[in-house]
Formats: sequence, C-alpha cells, structure tokens
Amino acid sequence: MNTPTITSSQQAIDTEHQYGAHNYHPLPVVLNRGEGVYLWDVEGKRYYDFLSAYSAVNQGHCHPRIIGALMEQAQQLTLTSRAFYNDKLGVAEQYICEYFGYEKALYMNSGAEAVETAIKLARKWGYMKKGIAPNKAEIVVVEHNFHGRTTGIISFSTDPDSTKGFGPYMTGYKVIPYNDIDALEQALKENPNICGFLVEPIQGEAGVVVPDKGYLARAHELCKEYDVLLMADEIQTGIGRTGKLLASYYDEVKADILILGKALSGGVLPVSCVLADDEIMLCIQPGEHGSTFGGNPLAAVVAMAALDVIKGEHLTENASELGEVFRERMRGLIQKRPELVTLVRGRGLLNAIVIKPTADGRTAWDVCVALKDKGLLAKPTHGDIIRFAPPLVISEEQLQACCDIIEEVILGF
Ligand SMILES: Cc1ncc(COP(=O)(O)O)c(C=O)c1O
Repeated sequence: MNTPTITSSQQAIDTEHQYGAHNYHPLPVVLNRGEGVYLWDVEGKRYYDFLSAYSAVNQGHCHPRIIGALMEQAQQLTLTSRAFYNDKLGVAEQYICEYFGYEKALYMNSGAEAVETAIKLARKWGYMKKGIAPNKAEIVVVEHNFHGRTTGIISFSTDPDSTKGFGPYMTGYKVIPYNDIDALEQALKENPNICGFLVEPIQGEAGVVVPDKGYLARAHELCKEYDVLLMADEIQTGIGRTGKLLASYYDEVKADILILGKALSGGVLPVSCVLADDEIMLCIQPGEHGSTFGGNPLAAVVAMAALDVIKGEHLTENASELGEVFRERMRGLIQKRPELVTLVRGRGLLNAIVIKPTADGRTAWDVCVALKDKGLLAKPTHGDIIRFAPPLVISEEQLQACCDIIEEVILGF
C-alpha cells in the first residue's frame, strides 16, 4: 500500500482531519523531530516545548540514554506476555520499589490503566482486609479530578466534556470538593464502606491547582484513622516535575498506593506502574488482573533508564530551582498586564497562568497561537488557563529565553 509522504504541515493536518477521529483540538503545528527541550515542525522551524506531552517528557525529547536502552532491548526481546517470565521485569520491579520505597510494583501501560489497577487493588483490599461486604466498597474522589478516559474512570469525573453522552456510569464513588479536609472527614465518617481516597497531589488537568500546605498530610492521617487507603495519582505530578521526586513529598506523605505513568518512560513508550506494600498488593491473586503488554521487557528497561536519568541528571533539583525563576518572571507579567494575566500558580516546573479574555474576545487559545508563532509551544486548558511545563532538562538560559518570548507575547497582546 502506498502511504503519502507528508511534505507540509497543512497536508498533515488535512490528512489527520480526514482520516482520524476528531477527539482532540490540537494547536496547528505539525512536529516531526525532537531533541531535549526542542521540537521541530515539518518546515524545519524550531520550538521550545512547554507542554512536554502533558509532562511525559520530563527527561527531554529522545533522551540518548533512554533511546539507547530501548534500541538495545528492541533487538533482543520486546514482549513475552506474563504467561512466561522475562529477565527484565523483576529487575525493573526491584528498581522502582527501591526508588520509591515500596515492597511491590505492578507495571501497566497507560495512566488510565494504572488508575483502574489502583481502584481494583483498593476494592480488593477493602473486601479482604477491611471486611467490607461484597460489592459495597466505595472510593472517595474530588471535584475537577482527572484520572483518565475509561468508562470506569469517567464515572466519577465532574467534567461534562468527559462524561456527557458516555453513560451509564459506574457507582461506588463519592465526590467531594478538592482541598477540603472537613468534607473528607465527613465522607469517611459517614460511610464505613470506603476503601480508598483517590487524589492528585496537585490537580494538573484542572489547571495546576495546588492545595493548601498540609492538605495531603491531614488527608493521610484521616485515611489512617478510618482505615482507608490514600491513593496518590502522581501520573502528571510525579518523577521530578514539581521540584520534588513526588508532589506528595511536599507534605511528607508516602501514599498507600502510588500511581505513576507518563514520565516513567521519558515519553518513549506507554509505561505506568502502581506501587504498594505487600499487605495491599498481595490481595490480587494470579489471574485476577493483568495486561498483555504490562511489564514487557522493552518497557522495563525504558522505565529504569528514564528513572535513572531523573536522578543522574538532578532533574528534580533543576525543576525546583528553575520553577522559582519562572514564577518570579510570570509574577512580573501580572504587574505589567494585570488586566490580562490574573494569576500564576504551580510548583517546580508545573505551572499555569490564568488569562482573562480580552474585550474583543481573544482567549488563552489565541495567546498560545501567538506563542507558537514566536517559537514556544504550550496548550490552553479550560479556556482561560495556560499550562507551562517544559522538559526538566531545560537550562536557566533557555528558560530565560522562553520567559522573554512569553513576555513579548503577553505585552504585545
Ligand atoms: C493525573 C492524571 N491521571 C491519569 C491520567 C491518564 O493518563 P493516560 O492519558 O496515560 O491514560 C492523566 C493524563 O493526563 C493525568 O494527568
């Protein structure tokens, strides 16, 4: 079969539009190469990546160490399924358990699958250890959560775009406001069938919403008090992004169930993982959960290399230091254009600014298009928020150059 060679951005956009489902609304830029913090479009124009594939590319595009691990393993063995052992999975399990301080790891592929895994694990634990009556287990979640797109997960989403037209929804979830400890206590007090509290330590998709200091710590105390598992979805916030290895560490919390994805492969393959101690993880028995690709040897070596790069290149520390620099520069923009930029928030290199629509109706989308034209790629969320999340390998010089671009666009808007 003859597949066409793409020679222009417009051709690529038209082809996708004609043959692909219309389930995204991308910025009109067509990328075909990436290296470190940079991306290039089909016409050869270079951009700074300020999205990092929703924080999956913390290590920078095509990191040579991760690609090296991928290529070496790809020539040896890629997939066995879990019907047999392979010689890489156990090593990758040990590696990640020691890295984050847990007794057991369960590798999956996408983030949503890892969240589903965590939910199943919490329910099973609820029945086996907490003594909840069959099919009565409930999980507390929060408003404006984002945990993925499966029918199970959207059942407790509060975003109409995620849910409308996709019912019926699964029961067994209680939604409470985010950053509201009293609401959590009330929910736990009211219902002895609650087995888990599923939460993002910082809400990424909601627009980088940072809870009060102490929220997660207090939530964990309450979970312990009511015999409920704290499940931290660190798929977007984890692995150095927020200036700590995990965003939970800002509150010195070690979640009972830790959920990782995205940057676990440095953006090279879909790799996710759920971590927990034996008491919880061993509730799942052979045959009760799995995935054909989960824990494949290719993913195993990629995950180890990706985690190794985070520590070896001190990317968490870089995110912490440059995050301060970035927010300081963005706060300067609020002073210069208070009628346009109303808020800057975030931790490490996961940040967002809130844009007030202009009198003539231009929005955060138009700001992102203007940024693209100046060579910086970011994506708006919820109409008025722009998330800024460059790869953590960014240098201070590059970051300052990016802040110059953002400033130029905002001041000229
Ligand atoms: C916090 C969080 N959880 C889960 C997911 C879902 O991950 P995936 O898109 O890999 O299924 C995302 C993706 O953005 C996320 O940010």
